[in-house]
Amino acid sequence: VTEPVDPEVLARRLARAEERVAILESMLEDRTREVYLAAQRLQATTDSLAELFRTVPGAILVFGADGLLEAVNGETLRLVGRPEAELVGAPYERLFSGIPPSLSELRDVGASGQVFRGERQMRRAGGDRIPVLLSVTLLDGAGPSLVCVAIDLTERKKLEAELLHASKLESIGRLASGIAHEINTPIQFVGDSVSFARDAFAAMAPVIGRGMALTRLREEGAPLEVIYQAAADLRKAGLEAEIPFMLEELPGALDRALEGLSRVAAIVKATKAFAHPTGGELRPADLNEAIRTTLIIAHAEYERAAEIELHLGDLPPVACHIGELNQVFLNLLINAVHAIQDRPQRGRGKITISSHVDRDHALVAITDDGAGIPEAVQDHVFDPFFTTKEVGRGSGQGLAIARSVVVDRHKGTLTFQTHEGLGTTFFVRIPIRPAARTSIAALRAVR
Ligand SMILES: Nc1ncnc2c1ncn2[C@@H]1O[C@H](COP(=O)(O)OP(=O)(O)O)[C@@H](O)[C@H]1O
Ligand SMILES: [Mg+2]
Repeated sequence: VTEPVDPEVLARRLARAEERVAILESMLEDRTREVYLAAQRLQATTDSLAELFRTVPGAILVFGADGLLEAVNGETLRLVGRPEAELVGAPYERLFSGIPPSLSELRDVGASGQVFRGERQMRRAGGDRIPVLLSVTLLDGAGPSLVCVAIDLTERKKLEAELLHASKLESIGRLASGIAHEINTPIQFVGDSVSFARDAFAAMAPVIGRGMALTRLREEGAPLEVIYQAAADLRKAGLEAEIPFMLEELPGALDRALEGLSRVAAIVKATKAFAHPTGGELRPADLNEAIRTTLIIAHAEYERAAEIELHLGDLPPVACHIGELNQVFLNLLINAVHAIQDRPQRGRGKITISSHVDRDHALVAITDDGAGIPEAVQDHVFDPFFTTKEVGRGSGQGLAIARSVVVDRHKGTLTFQTHEGLGTTFFVRIPIRPAARTSIAALRAVR
């Protein structure tokens, strides 16, 4: 049996309980407000992330762990030219052409935070391909496993091609007076030989006429004295016209004329080959031939500064843009000439050009015995517009263009070795077979 409760005690307890409820209620209200605000902030963040994803000026493609495309942004749709519905679910390998690390290779690399970076192509609706700078990040965990960011390089590629073309035209312009001189010399001896032949013919023509007349006299049954007289006149005219001399000299003169003409034809051919249009597909070409072409058109640039020694080994055809490589060889050759002109000692220098197969690359080495590259300059020689030469002699573009052609366009390497005061060698390495898939080793190297 319980004691009767004192109503006053009961009222106090009730009041305390009500107080507690009120406190709890206000706590709950605070929490609710906090949760609401947090949810709002989260929404705002989500919205701005979504907006960022939508508007960022690079294509973002997120692939799931199964290698299928899960999400893309607006720039991807613009680049690829397909609606989102067609893209989502597409396999990673199908969106890019020649993508180096395959999905499984990327997974082998394993650890998250690995980033692959390289120039690749994206396939557009309709079959076109667009050059892009592609970064691929592999993510660990349960979420999406692969994030690709692709930046459209179409404009940059166009500018690069224009720059290359412009610099080629500039070279041709610069070389033009040299080429004109090169053509002028053989043209001169073609001219001399032909005018000798013309004079010889003019001198011989009357003698031949007399000879013809003499044979006619005999046919017509002219008296012997007349024939004898005509024969004596013919011989005299022949000696006066220096026929024996002409007969001896003419063949040589005609040979010289032909030789001059073929020399001119070779220079014209080399100029045409040098100006070979840039761009297009890689085509098999003979690098030794390209070196010879370059030497022909640049002859006037080096003949006084240096003698050239050639050691051209057997090279298989190399898949390349030969017009662009001509430009590279020219740039390296002209630099070698300048380095020789800049050394303190007088006299002609020597430029050695050699080529051979170096494992899976064709290697061309251009060595000069010029001034060498000072240590302080070595890190900058490939920078665009870096030059140590006065205006007009150098524009600082030669090696930057050479590097872009060799490394970016041909996936080769361009390196040098130099000793101050002794000279410099530049090494151009071009893969003999176009690189198919970059290996995992290359993927590691980009880190
Ligand atoms: N064979 C070489 N010997 C010495 N220095 C060189 C050689 N090749 C290039 N260089 C240095 O590298 C610089 C950049 O070369 P390049 O890009 O061809 O521009 P430019 O020849 O117009 O100066 C040159 O100014 C020169 O200082
Ligand atoms: Mg140069």
